[in-house]
Amino acid sequence: MKTSIRPEIWQRAQRGHLQTWVDYARDGMARAGTRAAAWRAILDAAAREAPFRPGERILDIGCGLDTVLDFIPDARGFTLDSLAAALIPLGLSPAARHTAGVFEAMPFASGAFDRVFLMNVLDHVRDPAAGLGEIARVLAPEGVLVLSVDTYAGGRHFAKRLHKWWARLRGARTKHPWAFSAANVRDLLRRAGFAPGAPSHVAGTKARRTLFIARKNAH
Ligand SMILES: C[S@@+](CC[C@H](N)C(=O)[O-])C[C@H]1O[C@@H](n2cnc3c(N)ncnc32)[C@H](O)[C@@H]1O
Repeated sequence: MKTSIRPEIWQRAQRGHLQTWVDYARDGMARAGTRAAAWRAILDAAAREAPFRPGERILDIGCGLDTVLDFIPDARGFTLDSLAAALIPLGLSPAARHTAGVFEAMPFASGAFDRVFLMNVLDHVRDPAAGLGEIARVLAPEGVLVLSVDTYAGGRHFAKRLHKWWARLRGARTKHPWAFSAANVRDLLRRAGFAPGAPSHVAGTKARRTLFIARKNAH
């Protein structure tokens, strides 16, 4: 499977994201609690895999304007988003420390975090495999990755992949340059050094939104 896209395709997706966040802030939806139920279901599932500890170092990658950190008490919260410089003045959560950057090359020390969230980001990036490798690097041994992404099965997956391939070839604007199956995501996770659990549906979200909880391998 090809693992990176041309920079200009990703830059166009970024412009689409920025417009989404500007609209989101203008409409007063940020942190309005509209998605609180989904975040809580995700946090419950993450806690079943590994209970949250006070003072845990948590990184939310690709947080947008709606970071999950707002729902985790007593965390040492950090975010990384390629659009952070624009998101901060739009009202990004004051509860975390924000960094601008891409997950394919993160400005954090190895082993700096106990838990990483990658919510609805993997199909928006330039290089999913490189970024997952970076997450493995910044996580402490046996650290936990909580990842959600849209997945497709069977003929729908085939059609979506074809559509994305054609969009990338033409340089067409798409906010989602990638279309994964659940098996693709698990394979990417294993190759990056994670032990992924079984995928599940994210309660309170559209049917294709899939949750993966994966522990970094000890070695
Ligand atoms: C669909 S939003 C997800 C926002 C939030 N996590 C949520 O679930 O609502 C995707 C976010 O990922 C960011 N992003 C895209 N590519 C990225 C990359 N390579 N590194 C870091 N952030 C990236 C975008 O700027 C955007 O804010």
